[in-house]
Amino acid sequence: MILENIKVDRAGGRGVAVGKTDDGKTVLIRGAAPGDVVDVRVIKGKKSYFEGRVDRVVSPSPLRVEPSCKHTESCGGCTWQHLGYPSQAEFKAAEVEEQLVRVGSVPRDGVVWHPFIPAPEPFRYRNKTEFSFTNNRWRTRGELVANPDAAAEPGLGFHIPGFWDKILDVQDCHLIPDYGNQIRNAVRDEALALGISFWQPRAKVGALRVAMLRSNQAGDWMMIIQWGEHPGPDGFTMMHRITEQFDRLVSLYWGLNEKVNDSMYDVDLNLFYGAESLEEEMEPALEGGRALKFLISPKSFYQTNPLQAHRLYSVALTAAGLKGGETVYDLYTGTGTIALFMAQIAGKVVGIESVREAVDAAVRNAERNGISNATFEVGDMRRIFTAEFVARHGSPDVVVVDPPREGMHPAVVAELARIKAPKLVYVSCNPSTQARDIQMLSEAYEVATVQGVDMFPQTFHVESVVLLRAKSASEA
Ligand SMILES: C[S@@+](CC[C@H](N)C(=O)[O-])C[C@H]1O[C@@H](n2cnc3c(N)ncnc32)[C@H](O)[C@@H]1O
Repeated sequence: MILENIKVDRAGGRGVAVGKTDDGKTVLIRGAAPGDVVDVRVIKGKKSYFEGRVDRVVSPSPLRVEPSCKHTESCGGCTWQHLGYPSQAEFKAAEVEEQLVRVGSVPRDGVVWHPFIPAPEPFRYRNKTEFSFTNNRWRTRGELVANPDAAAEPGLGFHIPGFWDKILDVQDCHLIPDYGNQIRNAVRDEALALGISFWQPRAKVGALRVAMLRSNQAGDWMMIIQWGEHPGPDGFTMMHRITEQFDRLVSLYWGLNEKVNDSMYDVDLNLFYGAESLEEEMEPALEGGRALKFLISPKSFYQTNPLQAHRLYSVALTAAGLKGGETVYDLYTGTGTIALFMAQIAGKVVGIESVREAVDAAVRNAERNGISNATFEVGDMRRIFTAEFVARHGSPDVVVVDPPREGMHPAVVAELARIKAPKLVYVSCNPSTQARDIQMLSEAYEVATVQGVDMFPQTFHVESVVLLRAKSASEA
């Protein structure tokens, strides 16, 4: 079903623009820009709304630009490549505000809403990307029409959004540096030349399954290949050829993944070549501070846009307003990046993180940077961050939380409300769960400042840093 001549009114959440039919029904449209008039191919029709994607642009919005990447339409990774970057930044700033006000009940008055920080590099900023192998690459509608009986072809690229078994073959991803594209394309070519089989997502058989690429700002690269079968002599030849071809590929791991899912976190990895980790250097997060060096190991979290991560950490440190001597908790600490910047000023910092490898890296990061007042504990926040933990480490003056997209578990929110730290800095990559958690914290804390930061240009994702202050007994 096609809905004709739908006027697109606003950007909407999660990159899905919003328009209305003549009889007032809401239409959620992928691939549209506010100001467009479009025909919409309906994917889902409900009583009160339609969901679909642009079938034809009848009249383009002045905000539209020509996407620079040829994969945009099918890929879905860059939901907003058809929008100019200033418009993307504007819509992200509005999304942070909308979520915090509507879901988080944050007042517009009495709170400092800092101007949004856009990214200086809207392309080729990512330092980590995961590509999947397939024996039957996704074909666009145009390809299917042109050649409906074409035989299956192998591919290496990204999952089509919403389809775990459909993979787009990618030649040039505009979010990663060109060198990464060259490595990925060479892996595909060498593997095909050696006759190595590619993964069949439905049948769950095949040799090459997933390749992850990581890099640092100095231009060193790490690759981690998950194999569905033991690589055997041809697999080792392929990996060897890749390391010979790319001198900036300084580390190559492989692992055998015979599980149902593609997750690498419980796969044992073997170092095939080079360094165990990459090293990343980050400028001081505040004036007068020191630059820090961080180890990036295959499984540990490290912010995917390193330039903007530096800005994000500066914002978090400014919000924390440390003077010296404070007890700080850095919860969901990853490899301890925020914790170690805080430890340059604070009396002591305690971090919690669920991935053991990340905590090992955090401990090594502290040692490498000569920091002795930061300690880290491994485990699920829900089980570790308890009254006993607080009694053992002392009540914090400042708590920083930086949870994953799903936000914090209610038990963690409850413990934060109970301890009422004077300052709570909430760093989030998902303003809607951040707003939900802030609403749950509203009896104990009030919002003082809000700062949106763009870490992920071309996508709808946005980072938000909120400073909360504990309410006094009379306010609570
Ligand atoms: C958004 S990252 C933040 C990392 C760090 N603050 C940084 O900037 O690099 C979230 C981190 O929380 C960790 N994590 C996710 N769920 C967790 C849980 N339930 N308990 C503890 N850590 C968790 C993840 O492994 C990840 O390292």
